[in-house]
Order: sequence, then C-alpha cells, then structure tokens
Amino acid sequence: MALNPTLLPFLLFTVCSMSGARTAPARLLLLLLGCSALAPGVAWGSLEQREAENYVAAVYEHRPVLSPNPLELSSRQEALELMKQNLDVYEQQVMAAAQKGAQIIVFPEDGIHGFNFTRTSIYPFLDFMPSPKLVRWNPCLEPFRFNDTEVLQRLSCMAIRGDMFLVANLGTKQPCFTSDPACPHDGRYQFNTNVVFSDNGTLVGRYRKHNLYFEAAFDTPADVDLVTFDTPFAGKFGVFTCFDILFFDPAVRLLRDSEVKHIVYPTAWMNQLPLLAAIEIQKAFATAFGVSVLAANIHHPTLGMTGSGIHTPLKSFWYHDMDSPKGHLITAQVATNPPGLVGNTTSEMDPSHQKFLKVLSGDPYCEKDAQEVHCEEAAPWTVNAPPTFHSEMMYDNFTLVPVWGKEGYLRVCSGSLCCHLLYERPTLSKELYALAVFDGPHTVHGTYYIQVCALVKCGGLGFDTCGQEITDAQGLFDFHLWGNFSTSYIFPLFLTSGMTLDSPDQLGWESDHYFLRKSGLSSGLVTAALYGRLYERN
Ligand SMILES: *[C@@H]1O[C@H](CO)[C@@H](O)[C@H](O)[C@H]1NC(C)=O
Ligand SMILES: *[C@@H]1O[C@H](CO)[C@@H](O)[C@H](O)[C@H]1NC(C)=O
Ligand SMILES: *[C@@H]1O[C@H](CO)[C@@H](O)[C@H](O)[C@H]1NC(C)=O
Ligand SMILES: *[C@@H]1O[C@H](CO)[C@@H](O)[C@H](O)[C@H]1NC(C)=O
Ligand SMILES: *[C@@H]1O[C@H](CO)[C@@H](O)[C@H](O)[C@H]1NC(C)=O
Ligand SMILES: *[C@@H]1O[C@H](CO)[C@@H](O)[C@H](O)[C@H]1NC(C)=O
Repeated sequence: MALNPTLLPFLLFTVCSMSGARTAPARLLLLLLGCSALAPGVAWGSLEQREAENYVAAVYEHRPVLSPNPLELSSRQEALELMKQNLDVYEQQVMAAAQKGAQIIVFPEDGIHGFNFTRTSIYPFLDFMPSPKLVRWNPCLEPFRFNDTEVLQRLSCMAIRGDMFLVANLGTKQPCFTSDPACPHDGRYQFNTNVVFSDNGTLVGRYRKHNLYFEAAFDTPADVDLVTFDTPFAGKFGVFTCFDILFFDPAVRLLRDSEVKHIVYPTAWMNQLPLLAAIEIQKAFATAFGVSVLAANIHHPTLGMTGSGIHTPLKSFWYHDMDSPKGHLITAQVATNPPGLVGNTTSEMDPSHQKFLKVLSGDPYCEKDAQEVHCEEAAPWTVNAPPTFHSEMMYDNFTLVPVWGKEGYLRVCSGSLCCHLLYERPTLSKELYALAVFDGPHTVHGTYYIQVCALVKCGGLGFDTCGQEITDAQGLFDFHLWGNFSTSYIFPLFLTSGMTLDSPDQLGWESDHYFLRKSGLSSGLVTAALYGRLYERN
C-alpha cells in the first residue's frame, strides 16, 4: 500500500463542559451506567445460567530450548535432538493436563523448533507433512508411512497417551516441481504449520500460517487454509496463528461459519503496550466475536514474549509473567456455547443515551413531567478547552487530549473518526491520562489500516509520555467511550494495573457509533480502547 505514513490531518476538536451545572456530566454518566440492566444488551446473570455444558481446555506457555546458533547448518539428527528436549516438556505437560481432565491442549508457535532461522538453516528441523484432506493418517500407529515425520509421530503418540486433542506448531516441508511456477528455487515449500491430532492420534487438521511476521525461513501458502476440526465435546474449532489475529484471512473468514465457537491459537507474540499486549488482543478477539480463544504463547521474557490464556467473551484465565523463567500450564472449564457480551442495541436505542446525545449536539433537552415541561440547557462549548497534542503510540502519530478533573466530557477527532469520552473519577490520582485517536495506516512492523479510540495512562506527567509502555496504574474511572468507526470490526481492549484483564459492562453498536461502558473498576486503568480494523484498506 502506498499511503503516506505521516498522518491524515486532524479535522476537528472541541471539548465541552455540560452547561452551567457542574454535576451534569456525572449525572448523565450515572444515568448511562445505571441503565445497563434495562438496556437491550445481555445481562451477566442470565448468561451464566445458560452456560450449562463445559469442557476442560489446557494451554501451555512454553519456554523453548533454543538452538544456540539458529543461523548455523545442522544435521537432521542434531535438529531432532534439540527438538526432543522441547517435546519431552510437551509430553510432561500433556500428562499434567490429563490429570486435570483436559480434553484439548494447545502449544505455542515455534515452541518445538525455535526461531531466527534462515530458509536453509531451518531445513533439518522440518517434518514432511501430507495433507490430512488427502490421507487419513495416524502417525503414532503408522510411523513408517512417510519419512521425516519424527515430530508428528511424537505429537500423535502424546495425544493418545493423554487421551486428548492436541494442537502444536512445527516447521514442515512439501516438495514441489518446476511445473509449479510458484515453486521456490530449492524445490520445496517450507511452512509454519499448526497440526491438530484427535484423542486417538489421528491427524485431523493442518493450518499453514498465512500472515507471516518477517519469517524468512517460511513460504506463504498460495491459498488461505481455512481450517476447522470437529470435537465430540464442543463442536467446531477454528485454527490460526499469531499475527493472523490482525487480519481478515483466515481469522475473521473462519467465523463466517457460525458453528465455529472456539479458536485454537498458537502464538509467539512480543508484547507491545499500551494496545497490543498478548493477553489484551486475545481477550479482545474473544469478546468481539463471541467465541472462546485458547491461546498459547512462548515464554521468553527477554524478548518480551509472555501472555497466554483461555478466554471466553466474559471470563478469562490468563498468565503473564515477565519474572519467572519457567513455562506455565493453564487449565480451565470452558462453556461449549460461549455466551456473547456484545449487545445488539441498534434496534432499540437506550433512552438515556438518546438524551445524552441530544444534549451534546447542542439542543436543549425537554422532558414532560406530569404537568410541567423541564428543559435542560444545551451544552455550550467552552473556551477553556484542554489542549490537543500529538504523541507517538506504538509508532503511530496519535492526536490526544488530556483527561483532567473529576468528571467531564471530551471529544477528539482525526481523519473521519471522532472519539468521545464521558467520565467520572471516584478519586483523583497523581497520574496523567489522555483520550487518543488515530485513523490511518499503521506501517511499522507490518502494514495494516486501523482506527483507534483509546483512553490510556501516560508514562509520566508530560504530554510526550502518552503512548509509552506502562503496566501499573491507580486511576479509577467510571466511563463511557465511543467513536463513529467506518468499520464493523472493533476489538475492545481493556487492560488494568499489573497486566490484568477486566471486562466491559456493556459494549456494541448504538446507531452509528460503537461504545464501551464500564463502572466500578477493581484496579487502576492502563488502557481502555476500541481498536478498529479496516481490512479492505490494507
Ligand atoms: C503528527 O501529526 C501532526 C498533525 O498532522 C503533525 O503536525 C506532527 O508533525 C506529526 N508528528 C510527527 C512526529 O510526525
Ligand atoms: C533473534 O533475532 C533478534 C533480532 O535480530 C534478536 O534480538 C534476538 O535476540 C534473537 N533471538 C534469539 C533467540 O536468537
Ligand atoms: C524413506 O527413505 C528411505 C531411505 O532414503 C527410502 O528407502 C524409503 O523408500 C523412503 N520411504 C518412503 C515412504 O518414502
Ligand atoms: C479417531 O478420531 C477421529 C477424529 O475424532 C475419528 O473420526 C475416528 O473415528 C477415531 N478412530 C477410532 C479408531 O476411534
Ligand atoms: C441487530 O438487530 C437488528 C434489528 O433487529 C438486526 O437486523 C441485526 O441483524 C442484528 N444484528 C446482530 C449482529 O444480531
Ligand atoms: C464522525 O463524526 C464526525 C463529527 O461529527 C464527522 O465529521 C465524520 O464524518 C464522522 N465519520 C463518519 C465515518 O461518519
């Protein structure tokens, strides 16, 4: 794409204080927050009760034994010896998960072979991989059917031993011929591959990563693999890998099949705050699409890799630890039919919200009360608006406005996106927060078009610290955040102090904007954001 990375000019910015009455925003906010029980969006209690059936899932955050020099050529034997050390850990974890009743386990991307290879140096690490659509194969029971399949055999035997579905990632090779114009010069395709074995060791799925993240060792498959597999305990699962989570294919297309209610997600994700920490985006995907996500990350704190979880739209069981040198197994009960959180409020606009929008738009709002008509004055735009400023957040030039005082309403716009925040703070902390907007192509470490509304805690008290990576915060907010996005694909990011996750009270579309509401935070707010993806503008 040829879009200039310097930003679309910001168009408009105004801040208003709600009429002369200083309490107006707070009162409106309370109205807004208090109405969630009446709103058409789904309420928590009823959802929990519908979660009748569960299964037990496990994900393992693995600290891999890595090749000391991934650029050096090794023999197949040496490669197998290195990978055996990782596979031994996998086998221990399968048995540990089995003791907890796990029916499926997911291991991370690159967990067996490692990373930083070249196309040539990874070759000894690759297994031959037939298509499970063409051959029905149980590598553990039929080991001699194909050569160079030691890793697949070992994984298949583990699935049998643990009596569970097993999902793992490995490098695979597939010979090709000069008759195929896309065949690489060395006569083979090399793929970053997820494999799925059923509880009897049969290979039931193979997904070759589509959105490679600067992986010189691997090829992109000519066609997108849309891979699902069936389980007797929770129906259909979809499969994708790491960076895929930010793209339409295959992640979003898979979900067009409404029977896909669960995702298995091996990843090797380097955390990037404030918007793209591993657990933050995993959870956001589950919430946005109403599916459960079984996410296994690599554990390598010095490379910024940690953060795995079993996420349902409402609840998450996660692990994020930058201090421990060890891997970690998570097991949890997951509803076979994950309950959604995204309310469909387009049909019935919440009356208090209607009133609120009216007051904001500058019209006086009138209410008929028995005999009398009460009007609230329209909100005048104040002259003393907080200043807008620019700051870099994750390499993008955001437009921001500081969030000052105990309560208020702020609006900040960029390109065609306007972000709004109505907030009230039970206590004031000595921290700077800002409301940030971005509408444009993200171009560093991958190119993809985003629209973002974010309430973030800044690194310090200076404006230029907004967008910095921080993990701890004290600021509590009751708030309502919304924006008029040009895409329907919005990921609600919600991170609180100490790398913890919280859930919105309510979110979804309301007329032409997408909103997120929350009150009663249990710990300080690090990031609350609506992260929109415009897939067609990549
Ligand atoms: C960010 O965008 C603003 C407005 O377009 C511009 O004035 C400013 O120079 C940009 N900052 C950087 C670092 O590119
Ligand atoms: C992989 O390469 C990156 C970038 O060159 C480097 O920072 C990192 O330390 C390397 N990791 C390993 C495990 O060699
Ligand atoms: C496996 O490799 C051996 C030795 O190169 C060869 O003799 C055998 O035919 C191969 N088997 C298959 C199934 O390709
Ligand atoms: C093994 O598992 C697959 C996939 O769940 C199933 O279709 C097949 O019937 C099973 N085979 C046996 C022998 O149980
Ligand atoms: C939301 O409700 C409207 C009107 O009832 C309906 O047309 C639309 O399909 C619904 N959307 C979803 C995502 O359920
Ligand atoms: C969002 O709202 C702003 C301000 O009202 C408007 O200028 C802009 O066109 C809107 N964007 C879209 C996509 O409707």
